[in-house]
Amino acid sequence: MNAQGFSAQLDAATGVATITMAMPGRANKVNADFGAGLQDALATALGFQGLKGIVIASAHADFCVGADLDFVYKQRDAKALEEMVGQMNLLYRKLETYGVPVVAALTGSALGGGYELALACHHRIALDEPRVQLGLPEVSLGVIPGAGGTQRLPRLIGIQASLELIAQGKILRAAQAKKAGLVDALAATPEALREAALAWIAANPKAKQPWDVGGFQWPGGVQPNTDMARQLFMAGAAMLAQKTAGAYKAPEVAVRAVHDGSLVDFETALKVESALFAERVVSDDAKDMIRTFWYHRTAVEKQKGLPQTDDAGIRKIGILGAGMMGAGIAFVSAQRGYEVVLKDVKQASLDAAAEHCKKQVAEKAKHLSPAEKEALLGRIRTTLDVQDLQGCDLVIEAVFENKELKHRVTRETEPLLAADGVWASNTSALPITDLAEASAHKENFIGLHFFSPVEAMPLVEVIVGRATSEKTLARALAYVRSIKKTAIVVNDGYGFYTTRLFSAYIMEAAQLVAQGHDPVLVEWAARKAGMVISPLKVFDEVTLSLAAHGFEMMEHYKGEKLDAPGVRLVRKMVEAGRTGKAAGAGFYDYQTKPRKLWTGLRELAEGTPAETGVAYIERRLMLAQALEAARCLDEGILREKRDAEIGAIMGVGFAPNTGGPLAWIDRRGAAQVVAWADAFATTEGARFAAPKLLRDMAARGETFFEQV
Ligand code: NAI
Repeated sequence: MNAQGFSAQLDAATGVATITMAMPGRANKVNADFGAGLQDALATALGFQGLKGIVIASAHADFCVGADLDFVYKQRDAKALEEMVGQMNLLYRKLETYGVPVVAALTGSALGGGYELALACHHRIALDEPRVQLGLPEVSLGVIPGAGGTQRLPRLIGIQASLELIAQGKILRAAQAKKAGLVDALAATPEALREAALAWIAANPKAKQPWDVGGFQWPGGVQPNTDMARQLFMAGAAMLAQKTAGAYKAPEVAVRAVHDGSLVDFETALKVESALFAERVVSDDAKDMIRTFWYHRTAVEKQKGLPQTDDAGIRKIGILGAGMMGAGIAFVSAQRGYEVVLKDVKQASLDAAAEHCKKQVAEKAKHLSPAEKEALLGRIRTTLDVQDLQGCDLVIEAVFENKELKHRVTRETEPLLAADGVWASNTSALPITDLAEASAHKENFIGLHFFSPVEAMPLVEVIVGRATSEKTLARALAYVRSIKKTAIVVNDGYGFYTTRLFSAYIMEAAQLVAQGHDPVLVEWAARKAGMVISPLKVFDEVTLSLAAHGFEMMEHYKGEKLDAPGVRLVRKMVEAGRTGKAAGAGFYDYQTKPRKLWTGLRELAEGTPAETGVAYIERRLMLAQALEAARCLDEGILREKRDAEIGAIMGVGFAPNTGGPLAWIDRRGAAQVVAWADAFATTEGARFAAPKLLRDMAARGETFFEQV
């Protein structure tokens, strides 16, 4: 084994050399060592007398997990990077053109740079296990494949098929990958895989890459530089623009790499890719995305720095309220093996919840056997009788958003809990400390704020009340981890973090509309900024009545009357029955297909704005949210900066391309953001007041996160 963890060994009987990757640490990662290690091992292999072929294998669980992100994150020198990937490309060209067949033995996942190595082999065999994943997910981190991925994959499976995978950063499981042509064969066991690799080498002594054979025809029926190809690329670009509103650079650049590379010879195509790859890697948005989706996300998923427990002591879970949220929470809990009692006061709600769970099993648990499916549903018991909650280790309350009702069910049910049982509320805004007033065990009382739809949304906002104990937090966190959700932990206060951020977003949009800004521009500006769902559309989904109810609660908690144009607009619309999508009418009209923004909005507007336009609207929508995030940090609602980013993106669809609201501020500079806030505070009022923390940062020239 060489210093980088690569070795080459010849099997004299078959003449096949095996290059084994066993880089130090838990996985093989593409970095400078990877290049040097592979080059050295390849030289050794090619030096073997009587060499008939090469198998590239991994000694780790995965084949290769892709680029070393610590390395990628730090790169700011495009030229040096281009040079480096140029070396890698030379190495891969040597591998595929030397004249011996090379097989990738994919006994584990091959992602990004790892899959690119597999692409540079003549044949790919994957272990047929669900844990084995393949693909080029680079765009989800703001970059594109840089070691031939955007050139080899289209030449292997066709332009259209590869565009769909690369531009969306799709990852496929082994069986799907076989269907899509990402791998050539599947094997049931590592031994069978090796056998198949040896057999393929024996049968294909003169293997060549298709693109190195004269007269190469592109698969998929579309040849580059034809009308059909032009149409395909144009349609692809249009679809992408519609989907991302131009906010995401990486998918666009990936399409460009495939397009430009398809028009030139293979060596030039690799250079085209290298330049675009380097341009992406050094970009600001790639840095922001890698920081959030790699560093922050890993820390949050590992619950770093948070209290842990090996055994949360939770087996039986009671869920109060079988509405939309209760049904979802029941399902995800039963899915992970918990015994669930779902309680409501209405049989109709219980029936609907049972139906919902059945549908979920059909849709989300396809891999289960009929017996397993039955067992899963059997773990959810619906009931009208509160006594059935006897002995629950955890109760999650998801009844209507009403403090008195929540107090009542707490008093009624808490005595039935097992000794030391945990009581959690799924409230989306009411302070946990207030709800805990009805509890006899305030130290066991906590907030577990799920998002809708529960099955699809990865986040749970965990709220620590004034009396919540560390032990309760640890147990709640263990539960969240066990149902495979990501937890952020925040301190208590009306609306916690995510609801405040989300309200700032949709209410700023309502305010803009009420002031006479064009609703079409409001929607467009948000999408252009990268927001996952435009504000008026999502407002209609959560319903305007929910917001109107929120105004009342906010007035109660803040002790002041809310009377901005946006508030008046929402109240008027609710009075007129335009409560949102479910009612068939809100900011949009749903009677027409496709839905259309309601033309009556203009009549409800109070005047015409002095200044408007996409850039102006975008700034207001984003600034309103960024300031709210900074306030939550300033007020101690947020305990960790990383949670501001992950909570915003995974919970309420904040623009992923920015890295999060704090990264959005960093990128513009605290001084600039404070200047904008001050200007808007004069025209718009106190909701744009910059918090002290931000002013101090501006004065000191500080950022929330270390910049590279
Ligand atoms: P929902 O209206 O769909 O369901 C509430 C259910 O509670 C109804 O089935 C009702 O019959 C039942 N219920 C009322 N009184 C009860 C009692 N005494 N005992 C047992 N069940 C009782 O409401 P949804 O949307 O499921 O929300 C429930 C809670 O979750 C609310 O506190 C809400 O703020 C919170 N939440 C809602 C989110 C959403 O997107 N809808 C997101 C996050 C939290």
